[in-house]
Amino acid sequence: MIEQDIAKVLVTREELEECVVRLGNQLSKEYKDKNPLVVGVLRGSVMFMTDLVRHMPIPMEIDFIDVSSYYEGTESSGHVKIIKDLDTSVEGRHLILIEDIVDTGRTLLKLKELFEYRKAESIAVVTILDKPERRVVDLKADYVGLEVPNEFVVGYGLDYAQKYRNLPYIGVLKESVYQREILD
Ligand code: IMP
Repeated sequence: MIEQDIAKVLVTREELEECVVRLGNQLSKEYKDKNPLVVGVLRGSVMFMTDLVRHMPIPMEIDFIDVSSYYEGTESSGHVKIIKDLDTSVEGRHLILIEDIVDTGRTLLKLKELFEYRKAESIAVVTILDKPERRVVDLKADYVGLEVPNEFVVGYGLDYAQKYRNLPYIGVLKESVYQREILD
């Protein structure tokens, strides 16, 4: 079972739920007359986004974009390739971008620039987790669930080698998992 690979739980299921309710209430007030386009950045944001929108009883549309960031070592380089684009025009729309975690900030900065170029009326960044220590560009999330320390985390959408997204909490992996990967 995947739970066996977890060294410690960083954010519990209950704490995640509290964040989702708080952010859902805030966003509902802010966007109640704006018919926002809620944009999920695939794949990590899916769990958070589907929970969040169920706490936003206001008119809205949802769409998804899939991007791949090129990595240099362990950091995204800022080169973002669109794998799946939105199906909706963003011109004149109020966008709410949903992310799992903001790390260096490069991916979201690129996405914001893209949607500004496409003439979105406004763009807000919402993330369940934020690692402010790791930031290398000037990108501030507008709505943050929780700040986490500079550790690699998995669960609630976040993966390691595409696994662990289905954990219902945020955890840190055991060292042995990384070693196993090297040995494989
Ligand atoms: P950024 O461009 O460096 O901000 O990259 C953000 C993306 O990197 C996130 O959407 C995640 O997919 C991935 N990422 C960053 N930190 C972690 C982590 O601790 N666990 C899993 N994925 C992460």
